[in-house]
Amino acid sequence: MTDLFHLETPSVDALKFMMDAAIELEMEREPSDFLDKVLHYSRDIVGARAGSLYLVDGDELSFLACQNDDLDISQFITVNTEQPHKIARTEKSIAGYASLHGEPLMIQDAHHIDNSAPYSFDPAIDKKSGFHTQTILAMPLRHPKEGVIGVMELINLQIKDTHHWSIGLVRHFAMLSASSIVNLQMEKSLEAAYLETIFRLGVASEYKDDDTYAHVQRIRYTSRIIANEMGCSLHEQQAIFHASAMHDLGKIGIPDNILNKPAHLEADEWEIMKNHATMGAEILKDSDAELLQLCATIAVGHHEHWDGNGYPNGLAGAEIPLEARIVAVADVFDALVNQRAYKKAWPIEDALALIEGESGSHFDPAVVEAFLNRIKEVKQVQQRFLVTT
Ligand code: C2E
Ligand code: SIN
Ligand code: SIN
Ligand code: FE
Repeated sequence: MTDLFHLETPSVDALKFMMDAAIELEMEREPSDFLDKVLHYSRDIVGARAGSLYLVDGDELSFLACQNDDLDISQFITVNTEQPHKIARTEKSIAGYASLHGEPLMIQDAHHIDNSAPYSFDPAIDKKSGFHTQTILAMPLRHPKEGVIGVMELINLQIKDTHHWSIGLVRHFAMLSASSIVNLQMEKSLEAAYLETIFRLGVASEYKDDDTYAHVQRIRYTSRIIANEMGCSLHEQQAIFHASAMHDLGKIGIPDNILNKPAHLEADEWEIMKNHATMGAEILKDSDAELLQLCATIAVGHHEHWDGNGYPNGLAGAEIPLEARIVAVADVFDALVNQRAYKKAWPIEDALALIEGESGSHFDPAVVEAFLNRIKEVKQVQQRFLVTT
């Protein structure tokens, strides 16, 4: 039995399989699709009809993938990757046992497990679905440094004699997968920290204004709604959501007495104020990061006008990047319907009238049209993020 768990002379096919799978996994960046692929490849190796995958979360196991070739398993079990179902990580379950011991566990007949074993099989799903679980190979996902990070249950194996290396192979594949999962998790947490930093820096840049957090949130959500209505790709919608947070980054360089002046700006004050567009872009422009470049594009372009009468560069029409044209509408609408040091909040109808009136002069008519088409959701964003100070 134990021999089965050790890879003998690896065949060329086995190596080729591992290479292909590794490359495929390397390209998959979406965590739940990634785990689905890990489970799928592992099942392929041993010809398992079904399987599930758990990741370790403290002293629990999160249920994150489930597959069955013989029936539509989604009728009986749902996998919620946002808020996964969790089971205790103890020796009482097969997955728990294998994850705690860090060794593969082979069960020949799930419905007749020896009474002396600490674990038992829960027949509930079989009863509900009519599926018959026979063999289970519980395979830990073991990382060289992090230890066991998860476990797979591969169900109803059809290993042919000529492929007896396959359990050894799946064991190696599980190790490779564990490394990739840990890398992806680190990448995702770095990415989340990076995106949150952009958001917090955007909030910081508005810190001297009255409502900061709420204002930045409204700009982000409104810009994304417009981008969605304009048919931008999901990637572009997310990019504009994050990058719009920094549109006024340059305001950190504007003196308080100008920024918070509770009155109309004098000509010289206005000249200083207008610098905020360029200053924001100056701070960001040399970055190699695509998202920070978009932040710079939006910072410098959000006060340009469609007819060429905006600042700082007097660009017109499609010379102004689309993202900046979108944020321009979101920004002005938000500035109008909310209070500023220098102005009262306008009624929504008045703000809409101004935006419609300036379609084709200040604003790109296509952006105004998209904005008006989705005004119901834009109003909901205003309600959701009310002034917080
Ligand atoms: P902001 O307050 O975030 O306003 C963004 C944009 O909304 C403005 O860009 C303008 O296009 C529009 N907007 C805001 N309030 C009004 C308004 O009462 N009437 C009209 N027609 N449009 C309005 P803009 O003009 O390029 O201003 C950029 C920034 O300069 C403003 O950002 C604000 O921080 C500052 N600012 C503009 N005017 C004044 C002012 O009279 N006093 C003070 N203290 N600051 C001002
Ligand atoms: C937040 O909204 O606090 C998280 C930051 C982000 O979504 O980028
Ligand atoms: C689009 O797909 O219409 C958006 C293009 C862009 O973001 O530049
Ligand atoms: Fe601005």
